[in-house]
Amino acid sequence: MSETLFLTPGLPKAARYAELHPQVAALTVGEADRTANLANTAAALRQVFGFFWVGFYVVQGEELVLGPFQGPIACTRIRRGRGVCGTSWAEARTVLVPDVEAFPGHIACSSDSKSEIVVPIFKDGAVVAVLDVDSDKLNDFDQDDLVALEQLMGLAASWF
Ligand code: SME
Repeated sequence: MSETLFLTPGLPKAARYAELHPQVAALTVGEADRTANLANTAAALRQVFGFFWVGFYVVQGEELVLGPFQGPIACTRIRRGRGVCGTSWAEARTVLVPDVEAFPGHIACSSDSKSEIVVPIFKDGAVVAVLDVDSDKLNDFDQDDLVALEQLMGLAASWF
């Protein structure tokens, strides 16, 4: 598998996700190491969409622990139910936050983060990790992101 992403210039967001998905699948299908696959997925999302921060938090006991990511340094541990990530874990659903300052309990790893989407990864019905994507623009995520990132995290489930 080539380590280069091929994206048609100028495509709308949903189409870029559609082009990206099979490339992430091809990049990860022959690789058994979870860290390698999470790392390349975070890098691919940041490379294609230019998000401020893209990364994973992995469930360890009663906490989420920082996993592979792209972007500025971030908080390392988040308790269940805390912040956007901990809420996504506790409620086992994607949480889309148009304005982080309006989300009660949001954990500000960076004051530059303005909007955020967190998507859980499920294994045998339980949340095993979350994908966290932050933007430095308000209201930067919509249903296109939600649908495509949930599909991508369906793929990530096989890495756990
Ligand atoms: N904002 C997140 C914390 C993680 S950082 O954004 C990377 C939250 O509220 O859970």
